[in-house]
Amino acid sequence: MPHSNRKKNLHHHKRLEVTDPSGWTHVTAGGKSARRALRTTQQHHDSPEPGERSQILVPAEAPTQLTWEGLQAQFRTYRERWEGSESWRVVEAQLSSVRVDRIVCIGLGSPSGFLKGGWVDRRSVSMYQLAGLVSVLDLIKKSVPDLQVFAQDPVFNTHDKSLLASLDITVLDHPHAFNKVTPGTLLYCPGAERTHLEQLLSQAPALVFGGPLEDIESEAVMLFVGSRRSVRIPRFEHMEHAFWNMRVYLPEDSGNAGE
Ligand SMILES: C[S@@+](CC[C@H](N)C(=O)[O-])C[C@H]1O[C@@H](n2cnc3c(N)ncnc32)[C@H](O)[C@@H]1O
Repeated sequence: MPHSNRKKNLHHHKRLEVTDPSGWTHVTAGGKSARRALRTTQQHHDSPEPGERSQILVPAEAPTQLTWEGLQAQFRTYRERWEGSESWRVVEAQLSSVRVDRIVCIGLGSPSGFLKGGWVDRRSVSMYQLAGLVSVLDLIKKSVPDLQVFAQDPVFNTHDKSLLASLDITVLDHPHAFNKVTPGTLLYCPGAERTHLEQLLSQAPALVFGGPLEDIESEAVMLFVGSRRSVRIPRFEHMEHAFWNMRVYLPEDSGNAGE
């Protein structure tokens, strides 16, 4: 039948969304189109740096119509929602008396662009996490005016870099941000990879915003967790998975008692 032949040649695949255990949402059409997207990406990066995921990472693709003003307006909205939340109220209470000389942010993702060849959209998650970072840095700057703030993620595109620079955050390329982590550091790493956490926590940063770290089977991570108290960040009502089960890890002898 002519109709059935035509259908077979359409190559129309239903899109599937799958969220993996680390919280990534993968969108796939299956078939040839998905495989083509992967090969195109691989042509851009032949030799990933040591410490990067085995998967190839390239700057996220911002929508063509996105303007600088539009991106700044988006950020302001996300920040207002975050700073109006109970989640921020709890973090703020824990960090108000903290003294560190720098903040290092690892693995924020892209607040402005699509990932993995355009198949994955985590912009809102990264925007909320960036709002969290900026709230923390503004709070600590009140007592540490010369606070240094660094961020590193291979998916940052030019929009992301401009946005971060406008917020007084210095973007570094791998592996320089890893080398900035010291016992005087607040490590801001929501959703960071296990291999990165192992490397970063062995430098004994004073505080960590991220996790949850408790179920990670790694000596370095367990040692860190055993040497800190922690406070759970309450459910973030605007987007639960942006801070899913995360905690702030603080020195045992600091401030209020943990949960
Ligand atoms: C599981 S994703 C988490 C992204 C985002 N924070 C979230 O919660 O959706 C891990 C992030 O680590 C980033 N990453 C990979 N290698 C990195 C490196 N060498 N330095 C910093 N970030 C890196 C990835 O690009 C990705 O954005």
